[in-house]
Amino acid sequence: MKKKSWAEPYKIKMVEPLRMLSKREREHAIAEAGYNTFLLRSEDVYIDLLTDSGTSAMSDRQWAGLMLGDEAYAGSRNFYHLEETVREVYGYKYLVPTHQGRAAEHIISKILIKPGDYIPGNMYFTTTKLHQELAGGKFVDVIIDEAHDPESEHPFKGNIDLNKLQALIDEVGAEKIPYVSIATTVNMAGGQPISLENLKAVRELTSKYGIAIVHDMTRVAENAYMIQQNEPGYVDKTIAEIVKEINSLTDHATMSAKKDALVNIGGFLATNDADVFEKARNLVVVYEGLHTYGGLAGRDMEAMAIGIKESVMDEHQKARVGQVHYLGQLLLDAGVPVVKPIGTHGVFLNARKFYPHLTQDEFPAQTLAAELYVDSGVRAMERGVVSAGRNPETGKHNYPKLELVRLTIPRRVYTQAHMDVTAESVIEVFKNAHRAKGLKMVYEPKYLRFFQARFEKL
Ligand code: F0G
Repeated sequence: MKKKSWAEPYKIKMVEPLRMLSKREREHAIAEAGYNTFLLRSEDVYIDLLTDSGTSAMSDRQWAGLMLGDEAYAGSRNFYHLEETVREVYGYKYLVPTHQGRAAEHIISKILIKPGDYIPGNMYFTTTKLHQELAGGKFVDVIIDEAHDPESEHPFKGNIDLNKLQALIDEVGAEKIPYVSIATTVNMAGGQPISLENLKAVRELTSKYGIAIVHDMTRVAENAYMIQQNEPGYVDKTIAEIVKEINSLTDHATMSAKKDALVNIGGFLATNDADVFEKARNLVVVYEGLHTYGGLAGRDMEAMAIGIKESVMDEHQKARVGQVHYLGQLLLDAGVPVVKPIGTHGVFLNARKFYPHLTQDEFPAQTLAAELYVDSGVRAMERGVVSAGRNPETGKHNYPKLELVRLTIPRRVYTQAHMDVTAESVIEVFKNAHRAKGLKMVYEPKYLRFFQARFEKL
């Protein structure tokens, strides 16, 4: 029988002290930041749950790997180590390193999308969708309806609705669909996994029409963990085996190694298609750097190669996802409205339920992230109408069904006690929710506005 309890499969060797501001200082800091947690200084944050991207703690092996950096402009030995690791662990044939995930998205979008194309996917991700649009494509959400319902307990809310996909193919024609965009896990749905059963069905359908699959494999090992735990037939498979099986059902992949792969910077594009590889290897020189470093230092590629191997270890994912679920359970037990089931990289608060008195034009999720910071110095991220941006055709706000605040857990960084403090603060803010007033946007940048927009209190 599998043991249920978990503990970290590592011990702590170095610590980084945290600073705690007074409540008055925090009120000042968030006002200075235009009520946008992206604009806070990290020094003013106590527990930083803004993102799990590039914020993980590296292992002693990874730090040792940095010392093995071969900083040659061309042909760095770390590149070949990374290439070999991507083949061995992920199963993709060809590798083009990039400085992070969105650079790989940029390149693959440029290669595969023609103006007027449609790109169906299991919910949008901000940078992925933007690069599809900049290449002249239109993103179409074909995720199952349950993904848009925070209360649905569907174990695989990342699944594609095959009827929606078929309907799109019938409507616009397969020749207008260069690929289906599959993310493991689905960030904007709350870190929700896709099942292998569903992915196999998507593969079958797309093969019939000659449509490719581009895999956003940013959190593929976390997705594999959820398959191991919840999909019939996979309990006895290792995460490493499941990761390989997922990847084998797709043609190309983009990776933000700043998540699963446990590095502070890095990413790549991987593919099984020699022609796409040729094109990508050429484009990367234009935008990132030579094809054997792609905007990274040799040492970064070394740390990534080591991190990839650590990321598919069963005991690592058990503790990683276990910690996220621990925080989620504390909030569920206290009756705080969160997205169910709890995802793998964070706990997503349902801001609509916190603030039924605020409309989406008053930015409930943005408000909640600001309130949480003022209460305790915990930094979270808006994932609602601000993140959804505007419709490029009409110029109007996109109004997503989900108005969420993400408490994102960096890997191997915080302790269970930090999770307790976070839960306590969220519960406090929930109790006082009726007093919140909402925000108005006073500055809005053109692209990915959530990063830099500024707000004032209503
Ligand atoms: N795809 C997914 C699913 C992501 O979560 C991210 C980044 C990217 C692509 C882009 O990768 O940042 O390396 O360029 N997500 C971060 C987050 C920013 O906080 O969720 P990148």
